[in-house]
Amino acid sequence: MIRRAEKSDLKTLYDIEVECFHEDAFPLHFMEQFIEDSKFITLVAILENKIVGFITASIEIYKGERVGHVYSINVKPEYRRRGVGSHLLKSMEENLRRSGARACYLEARKDNVAAVNLYLKHKYVTVSILRNYYGAGRDGIRFMKVL
Ligand SMILES: CC(C)(COP(=O)(O)OP(=O)(O)OC[C@H]1O[C@@H](n2cnc3c(N)ncnc32)[C@H](O)[C@@H]1OP(=O)(O)O)[C@@H](O)C(=O)NCCC(=O)NCCS
Repeated sequence: MIRRAEKSDLKTLYDIEVECFHEDAFPLHFMEQFIEDSKFITLVAILENKIVGFITASIEIYKGERVGHVYSINVKPEYRRRGVGSHLLKSMEENLRRSGARACYLEARKDNVAAVNLYLKHKYVTVSILRNYYGAGRDGIRFMKVL
């Protein structure tokens, strides 16, 4: 099941973020905004009565168009490769479409095989290579999909 994140989910989402990204995790106050600021949409995936992953995106104006921008997608390690990430991404695309977004943008580290494959599987195309986007020697790829 996928639902909108609630204030009371904050600690759980932060724990998942830290579990997935360690020192690169978004700080807690950012994640608070992901849930409370109306600029963001955060969805959580529930399996076996617990939150096993989440996705956050914002609605932005890019080149005069309303677009979605995914900030974070995380699935707890023990629940990966079961379609949860795909389900979260598809649900977010649907939410963004309903909010009037024409396209969805997101970034991944070039060497993040799981994320890159997930986005390619969902028909995202490469827009640009982002040199040192994640720190020195850590390039990113910006992807885009027309919604
Ligand atoms: C990326 C992530 C969200 C994928 O979640 P998931 O629930 O495992 O994804 P799914 O089960 O829906 O997988 C969909 C597709 O993604 C690709 N994929 C996912 N994990 C993969 C892996 N470890 N290796 C290679 N491809 C992978 C595959 O194409 C997969 O399709 P398949 O299972 O039919 O082969 C998850 O690995 C994760 O949370 N990683 C840590 C956080 C992260 O890096 N987030 C992305 C930041 S840009």
